[in-house]
Amino acid sequence: MTPLTAAESYLQDFHQRQVGVTSAAFAHLPAHSSTATWASSYAVLSDLVPVGNNPLTVLDLACGDGYLLGLLAARQQSQLQLLGIDMSGAELAAARAALPASVRLRQERAQALDLPSASVDYLVSHMALMLMDDIEQVVREMRRVLRPGGQFAAIVGRTFLLGEVNEVFMRVFKPIASTELPPLRFGDRRAGSEAGWRALLNAGFADVAFDDIDVPWSPTPGELWTALLDTYDIDRLDDDARQRLRGAFLEAAAPLQAGDGLIATGWGLRAVRARAA
Ligand SMILES: C[S@@+](CC[C@H](N)C(=O)[O-])C[C@H]1O[C@@H](n2cnc3c(N)ncnc32)[C@H](O)[C@@H]1O
Repeated sequence: MTPLTAAESYLQDFHQRQVGVTSAAFAHLPAHSSTATWASSYAVLSDLVPVGNNPLTVLDLACGDGYLLGLLAARQQSQLQLLGIDMSGAELAAARAALPASVRLRQERAQALDLPSASVDYLVSHMALMLMDDIEQVVREMRRVLRPGGQFAAIVGRTFLLGEVNEVFMRVFKPIASTELPPLRFGDRRAGSEAGWRALLNAGFADVAFDDIDVPWSPTPGELWTALLDTYDIDRLDDDARQRLRGAFLEAAAPLQAGDGLIATGWGLRAVRARAA
C-alpha cells in the first residue's frame, strides 16, 4: 500500500482500536427517505443490487468490518461476485471472520485500486467517501474500475445529529475543539454537499441523483454520549477535554429529554447515485 496521509494514519489507528463501530451504530437502525424505508442505511445500498441470475461484480469501497457485503452474501446469489477493499487491516480481519470465503477482501487505498479497469458492475460505499483525501483520484479510480453503464451508490454524511441536539452539541463542542483539538482535516469539502458531488462526478458519470436519508434514533443522553465517543473528533480529544465536553453536553442536552427520558435525534445521511458514462 502507498504511504498514508496524516488523516489516513489517524483513521487506520482509530479503526485498529475501534473495530466495527460503524456497523454497531448503523446496522440496527431503520433508515428512511421522503418516499421509502429500509431496514438500515446499509440496505439502501444493498437493495440497489439486483436479485437474479445475471453475473454481477460488486465492490464495497472502504468496506470496514464487511456488514454491507454480509447483507449481499446472505442472498446466496451464485452469480454475485463480492469484493471488499479497506485500508484498515483490523476491520478487514473482522470482515474475513464474518464473511464467506468466496468474498474477496483486500487491504488497499481507494486512491490506488489494484483492480482491472471496467471490472465492476456495482460500486457501493457506506460512510467512508467523505473521509477520503484526494477525492478526485478516488473518483477517477471508481470510474476506471466500473464498466461503462455500471452503477455507483454511496451513503455519506449530510448533517451530524438530527434535531435540536445537533445545535446543542455544536454549541458545547466548538469552544472546546477550538483550543483542544489538534488540527487534522478529514476528506474533501465537496463530499459534504450535493453541489460538490455533482462537480466531482461531472467527469465520467451521468444520471447523478441524491436522497436525504434519515436514521432516527431516540437514546438517553448517556447512550448518545456513548455513541459520540466513537466519533473521530471526540476520540481525538485528550481525556481532560473529553470529560469537560461530556459534562457540558449532558447538562446542555438534559432539557431536550422527553417525558420518557429519551432525546429524539438520529443521523442525517445522504445517498449519492450515478451511472458510469
Ligand atoms: C466510518 S468507517 C465505514 C466502514 C464501513 N463502510 C461501514 O459503513 O461499516 C470508514 C472506513 O473507511 C476506511 N477508509 C478511509 N479512507 C480510506 C481510503 N482512502 N482507502 C480505503 N479505505 C479507507 C476506513 O479504514 C474505515 O474502515
